[in-house]
Amino acid sequence: MQSSKIAGIGYYVPKNVYTNNDLSKFMDTNDEWIQERTGIKERRFADRLEETTTTMGVEAAKIAIERAGITAQDVDFIIFATLSPDYYFPGCGVLLQREMKMKEVGALDVRNQCSGFLYALSIADQFIKTGMYKNILVVGSEKHSFAMDFETRSRNVSVIFGDGAGAVVLQPTQKEGQGILSTHLHSDGADAEILAMFYPGSHANKWMPEKPGYPDQELGGLFMTTEQLESGAALPYMDGPAVFKKAVVKFPEVIKEALKANDLTAKDIDLLVPHQANLRISQYVQQLLGLKDDQVFNNIQKYGNTTAASVPIALCEAWEAGKIAEGDLVCLAAFGSGFTWASALIRW
Ligand code: UT7
Repeated sequence: MQSSKIAGIGYYVPKNVYTNNDLSKFMDTNDEWIQERTGIKERRFADRLEETTTTMGVEAAKIAIERAGITAQDVDFIIFATLSPDYYFPGCGVLLQREMKMKEVGALDVRNQCSGFLYALSIADQFIKTGMYKNILVVGSEKHSFAMDFETRSRNVSVIFGDGAGAVVLQPTQKEGQGILSTHLHSDGADAEILAMFYPGSHANKWMPEKPGYPDQELGGLFMTTEQLESGAALPYMDGPAVFKKAVVKFPEVIKEALKANDLTAKDIDLLVPHQANLRISQYVQQLLGLKDDQVFNNIQKYGNTTAASVPIALCEAWEAGKIAEGDLVCLAAFGSGFTWASALIRW
């Protein structure tokens, strides 16, 4: 069976830079706290009116398509991962298809938050392996800034996330041992409400835990109300320490699973590109796997956590910086809301 390879890669980040000190003008936070707990120094926020999740995805896709040596007309399938879509529906896939004037190809939207790009990559890999498609565009893009609250009540969430997009073009390769070696996908919905945005939603409080700190239960049951908006119930909710504890277990687990499936060890990894959730999480995973500094790529310092976009942005930056050469073993891994987690091993 043929494999799939990344034939082209690109990323786009908005030009507006917000430092930690900039955020401290809106809420009770400070550079020291943010850097110490997360490693983040600054992040990018999209232009409020001019840029959307789709338009940023388009910019990243243009670069990936050009580097793959094809045109937008050659793309025969689109997979778009995001948790911050332009519309509640339809998804960003069709909007990108329209913006890029692509043929009437299939467009699939993936909603797997931080591991969305890896889920999308895995789906694309299966379609290439079966011979169904030859040029699949996989995009991860986020405009978090539109739904973030810059008041102190939301500081544990708002200081972490940033905007941006990354994209790859997947093509078949006949070269023995090259390309995506394997992908590994997991989920456990037991803690779905630990990191979530509950509104707008049809849940009518069915799943909402009755515990202090969760959005006001009185306000549930309706799609979206002014009261929900005003009270902050419609904002993203995160129990950071609980997410952290789970992440440091699941990241190493899914990386080891990928290595074992390919009869490899951590020593064989040339570059680990983890989802940029928190620099402390990456460092912990690095230590646990016994990886050297030059075996792990992090750029959360500059962009914050860009969820579905973080892996392709980091992968592209690493590649552009010459940190990935042909034949290198690259490991991608992600963990996030759901919880969902995933990994991929690629022979570049
Ligand atoms: O991509 C997957 C998505 N998310 C993650 O991976 C997040 C994983 N979790 C984390 O990264 C960390 O839990 C956070 C960075 C979110 C928080 O760090 P923490 O060390 O777990 O802090 P904490 O939530 O336990 O809060 C400690 C203190 C609290 O004050 P008190 O109660 O001790 O007085 C918070 O109110 O820090 C306070 N705090 C802040 N202070 C200044 C929370 N956010 C901030 C802030 N600035 N931005």
